[in-house]
Amino acid sequence: MGIRTDYLVIGSGVAGLTFALRAAEHGEVTLVTKRKEDDAATTWAQGGVAAVFSPTDSYASHTADTLEVGCGLCHEDAVAVCVEGGPAAINWLTDIGAKFSRDDAGELDLGREGGHTERRVVHAADITGREIERALLAAVAANENIRVLPWHMGVELITLSRLGGPERCAGAYVLDEVSGQVITVLARATILATGGAGKVYLYTTNPDVASGDGVAMAYRAGAEVANMEFYQFHPTCLFHPLAKNFLISEALRGEGAVLRLPDGEPFMARHHAMNDLAPRDVVARAIDHEMKRTGSEHVLLDITHLSSDFIRNRFPGISERCAGFGIDITSEPIPVVPAAHYMCGGVTSDLFGRTTLPGLWVVGESACTGLHGANRLASNSLLEGLVFSGRAASRLAEEIRDLQRSPFPDVPEWEIGSAAASDEAVVVSHSWDELRRTMWNYVGIVRSDSRLRRAARRVALLEEEVREYYWNNIVTRDLLELRNIATVAQLIVGSAAVRRESRGLHHTMDYPETSPRMATDTVAKRGVMPYLR
Ligand code: SIN
Repeated sequence: MGIRTDYLVIGSGVAGLTFALRAAEHGEVTLVTKRKEDDAATTWAQGGVAAVFSPTDSYASHTADTLEVGCGLCHEDAVAVCVEGGPAAINWLTDIGAKFSRDDAGELDLGREGGHTERRVVHAADITGREIERALLAAVAANENIRVLPWHMGVELITLSRLGGPERCAGAYVLDEVSGQVITVLARATILATGGAGKVYLYTTNPDVASGDGVAMAYRAGAEVANMEFYQFHPTCLFHPLAKNFLISEALRGEGAVLRLPDGEPFMARHHAMNDLAPRDVVARAIDHEMKRTGSEHVLLDITHLSSDFIRNRFPGISERCAGFGIDITSEPIPVVPAAHYMCGGVTSDLFGRTTLPGLWVVGESACTGLHGANRLASNSLLEGLVFSGRAASRLAEEIRDLQRSPFPDVPEWEIGSAAASDEAVVVSHSWDELRRTMWNYVGIVRSDSRLRRAARRVALLEEEVREYYWNNIVTRDLLELRNIATVAQLIVGSAAVRRESRGLHHTMDYPETSPRMATDTVAKRGVMPYLR
């Protein structure tokens, strides 16, 4: 039982869908996604896509902002590729039917977010991701060269070296969640586009699908992973007992919203010259500090000084969602807390999405292209997904004809485990909870050597238990996600432990300064402890 295809794409967010559309011009694409097609972090993206369109803006300015926020670790070639590819990527999305907010003259309405010195955030009100995902899925549905398999989850990459062949990825074993069978998908090129891993932390702005599957699978298959210590916390996630993972976009602060303590006092001027529009790492740390100092459970985000009409038109999604929780954002401030938001590290990728494992490519949040460095500039991520997926597809188009000449390898079918544990759901959910709490408590916004040591011990034990459980039991999505989260947690803790400095998103009380000697990426590979390159 199985599938043979030119391109196997795993994931259906902006990066996976863009790659699929671009690659379908040159071969047959099979795209698997573990829930519904639009169950991706992209759909939840509110802010937008950073790109140079304003006459007062320039590539040099977008580049300078990206480098400044990235705290000395951005790869300048990746930044140049992304920044210069921005306008064409937006025009391509417009051509396939995405509708962005425009002013009365029909020009793109450009928003601003933290760390940006210019207005350059292309958006569709505050539901930008949903609009992009809609347009991409419509184009994919109309493309006969793309077969989409929802409710299919990658289990393990197929590496020929494990079968005595060359070091090469030849596809993946994929769980069909409806039948419970694991199918073999052989591919000339396998593209990971599985997004981030917010579910590794107790509180996150991410959807449930964000369990680091791509990073975990690539790491197990022997590909290099980089900069996993740089997990970005978004400063403003809605604080409400019934709200789960709801982001309050930085675009509110871009339009003038102010962060306040519960007694109404604004506090960002004490922390950074850019006040409420400081880079995200600074704002998240400032909120964390103020919450601890004042003993409050949250801070407030206040946009009430703007007109109700403007607020409702510019932020329809946020207004409506908050209203559902009894908060009228036009007349009262919004209670907010920081939450895990974006994985700046990932599977090491070159400027064309190639990983260190031949046959395996990576795009979007699962990739570490070098664009974000130690901290991501707001709205640079949809941009990265669009630009790098296009580049990966063009480069692969040059190789696919050659690859098509070789026969597919002989690969054994997946061996199904024997036991179906009756208490599986309980065990999985307890381990999951313990892992996420440990990461939140000890590997969050502010770290220390002793916290990391404590986390390392607990995560290692959990990882071992999960691995044992995995080998003994029939594969299910819950179990696979838990296993992946455990691997990602180990990578984050291990990478954080070797960075003995504070830089960008990695802030440790034991080494509060940035060390010029450590202006380099951390890397991890199976069988090798994480180290500074
Ligand atoms: C936001 O809307 O604040 C999120 C944008 C981003 O994460 O880039």
